[in-house]
Amino acid sequence: MAANILMFCQGTPVASLTVRQLDDKLKKLLRLRAARHGRSMEDEVRTILKAAAEDTSRDILEGFEPRAQSAQQRSPAAEAGGPRILLIIGGGIAAYKSLDLIRRLQDRGTNLRCVLTQAAQHFVTPLAVGALAGERAYTDLFDPQSEFDVGHIRLARDADLIVVAPATADLIAKMAGGHADDLATAVLLATDKPVLIAPAMNPQMWAAKATQRNLAQLAADGIHRVGPNAGAMAERGEAGLGRMAEPLEIVVAVEALLQSAGALSGRRVLVTSGPTSEPIDPVRFIANRSSGKQGHAIAAAAAAAGADVVLVSGPVAVPDPAGVTVVKVETARQMLDAVDKALPVDIAIFAAAVADWRAAEPSAIKIKKQNGRTPTLKLIENPDILSTIAHRKYGRPRLVIGFAAETDHVIANAKIKLAKKGCDWILANDVSPATGIMGGDSNTIHLITPTAVESWPPQSKDDVARTLIERIAAELEGDKR
Ligand code: CTP
Repeated sequence: MAANILMFCQGTPVASLTVRQLDDKLKKLLRLRAARHGRSMEDEVRTILKAAAEDTSRDILEGFEPRAQSAQQRSPAAEAGGPRILLIIGGGIAAYKSLDLIRRLQDRGTNLRCVLTQAAQHFVTPLAVGALAGERAYTDLFDPQSEFDVGHIRLARDADLIVVAPATADLIAKMAGGHADDLATAVLLATDKPVLIAPAMNPQMWAAKATQRNLAQLAADGIHRVGPNAGAMAERGEAGLGRMAEPLEIVVAVEALLQSAGALSGRRVLVTSGPTSEPIDPVRFIANRSSGKQGHAIAAAAAAAGADVVLVSGPVAVPDPAGVTVVKVETARQMLDAVDKALPVDIAIFAAAVADWRAAEPSAIKIKKQNGRTPTLKLIENPDILSTIAHRKYGRPRLVIGFAAETDHVIANAKIKLAKKGCDWILANDVSPATGIMGGDSNTIHLITPTAVESWPPQSKDDVARTLIERIAAELEGDKR
């Protein structure tokens, strides 16, 4: 790919820049970013260049004109009503990075308030945090001044997003347990706003069963996470997974969340997920290896974007996503019935791995062995739920999206499926055992529309879900224009 960019000064072109020799991975990432933001590739590159130039120029300028850090100073964008972020700083060595995080968030025009836990004050002082944030830092649940000023309920409500960085093992455990014995945990319990945690801890603590149990609980509660990264620890000679994500990575995650928050508000979304289970007799059934992770992640991302979500799920081990109405079914026919009852919706996403066949005559009693004779199982085809809904003349959702689980000729087969099923988009993925996609945590998607094929880089199923929701929001936004 070559990106051609003309630079203008007051309407007059001053420079033209051609970027060549971008490697395939970078091209893919750029294409994905552009798709996410609903921009052309050229616009996306222009936006990245602008942000980078502004960022570095500010640093250069500061070298000549150091900025006064008055506690009263706020960036004009923040004064003008930028997004409101409450940063909760936990007590870990990574707390020193939160000072950089404050600066970077402010540079992006956010309106920032900070809370420090008691442990955090061993690593950074409320004075330093308050000076950088431009407002006194909050520390005590029972501080008469802060309760008079704002109070923990208002701290929780007056934010568009709460960021916990660093999120220590202890803070994560308290969040998972619903504790509220200090200002940070009371705010976290009192909020109905999205929460992003940036965990930071020793690798042993990260790997501990209790921590992993708590993280699973937070994921089920709809808490978002960035990091941790692998690398050297503060303790000499220790390395592994547990380093807090870098401030810039946290900023990127914050921007993604702020962008998606409310993107689907007022929309009704239906998602099918998991396998179906078709009885042969009371103890045996036909099913498949679908875990429901991808469908559930999509339902969670749609809810985080403000949609009213109904999730129709076959039998799965993953927890119900927070803020979603879940209808549990077993068979394909029950799934179709539940889908019908959930209509009308604006967007229907069919991520379930529906069993194509069921036993023609399931036995009411357990089928016994028959002295060496093997029984014959007669199968009949199940209804195709996606195709049924996509071909509806009346009450068809605005956007009908299917998945194509393929093991060969992935894109070609998915294009055929798109046409045959009559849906608007197909997300094609290679489910060959070697890919580990079925049941795994990551996915590689090709988004197929009637006019284009967009190949997304390999990413976690949560990121696939967020990318899809952003694409959907951009598509619906296009309807208004
Ligand atoms: N689907 C459905 N009802 C079915 C079968 C599939 O709603 N009875 C949906 C799935 O949820 C998915 C899409 O159709 O969105 C494609 O599913 P897939 O298993 O890839 O394809 P099949 O239609 O089953 O075709 P084949 O197994 O021949 O590839």
